[in-house]
Amino acid sequence: MFEELENAFTSSLEELTQAQTPADLDIWYKGSLGRKGKLNLMARRVGQLEPDKRPEFGRRVNQLKKELEKAHKDRQDQLKGIDLDSVLAADGLDVTLPGRRPVRGGLHPATMTLRQIYRIWGDMGFQIYRSRDVETDELNFELLNMPKHHPARDMWDTFHTTTPGVILRTHTSPGQIHAMREYFPEPIRVILPGMCYRYEQITARSEIQFSQVEGLAVGTKISMADLKGTLVNFTRRMFGLERKTRFRASYFPFTEPSAEMDVECILCSGTGCQVCKYTGWLEILGCGMVHPRVLKNGGYDPAKYSGFAFGLGPERIAMLKYSIDDIRYFWSNDLRFLKQF
Ligand code: PHE
Repeated sequence: MFEELENAFTSSLEELTQAQTPADLDIWYKGSLGRKGKLNLMARRVGQLEPDKRPEFGRRVNQLKKELEKAHKDRQDQLKGIDLDSVLAADGLDVTLPGRRPVRGGLHPATMTLRQIYRIWGDMGFQIYRSRDVETDELNFELLNMPKHHPARDMWDTFHTTTPGVILRTHTSPGQIHAMREYFPEPIRVILPGMCYRYEQITARSEIQFSQVEGLAVGTKISMADLKGTLVNFTRRMFGLERKTRFRASYFPFTEPSAEMDVECILCSGTGCQVCKYTGWLEILGCGMVHPRVLKNGGYDPAKYSGFAFGLGPERIAMLKYSIDDIRYFWSNDLRFLKQF
């Protein structure tokens, strides 16, 4: 019996070394240490021994069971180690390798230009005034001296919403009314940047969506000379001292007199190209003295107050600065274009 017990023990130990997986280990445990395992079956046979041999047998059984428990635990740990080693070998992770560099985005050229414009106007004492993209017909047209069916409305091809009278603004000029109504009777120096929308044929020069920066100065002694001086100052800061500019008489219903300002085309240095429509000049803004009716609609008495306004196209300016020959690049989201800035 004693010998049988020792044999059961050694064969169990032997079997344990064959176990390769947790499932193998479970099966082994049942067969050796389980209720009906080898060791317990031996223990049950204790009655077959002489009474004086029984305690010794019992002690030996317990001793061997303890040893097997320990061996089982060791084998379990060993298998875990092997498991980890094989995972590491197959799926090697070298923590000394350099990490992957995150891709850094950049600012859109239109944003860069806008920021530069803000800085220049900020330096000249103009505040940024934000105004809404969705406007009413009243603010976009009527209060700017364009009654319904006025032919001047043909200058702005408009996106209408399904709510009558609610449109996408065709220019930032309705912001003039918002600003005047908010600031009256204080003098005003603001720029109003934002997106504008026009139902237009998309070409190298015009998009259906573009930004504008409106400017508005209202006060008691503001003249056309202030308008010209301020705008020339702006273009010098933006394009450099040598850049030529010119004013052309023009028409806008909300300014009187009205003008347009051109900057010499830097793509072709004035010799003529696709962007400047072969004129050598690029129109960058419309401007004029705020029409008395518009001042009145904003709450300012035109007999006492005067002002100038302008609206410029930052994309046009970015095109000039970076020699971009097609305005469609701004919205086509082509990384080959965007990465150049
Ligand atoms: N709103 C005009 C346009 O979109 C530009 C402009 C603004 C002209 C202010 C004069 C004064 O064409």
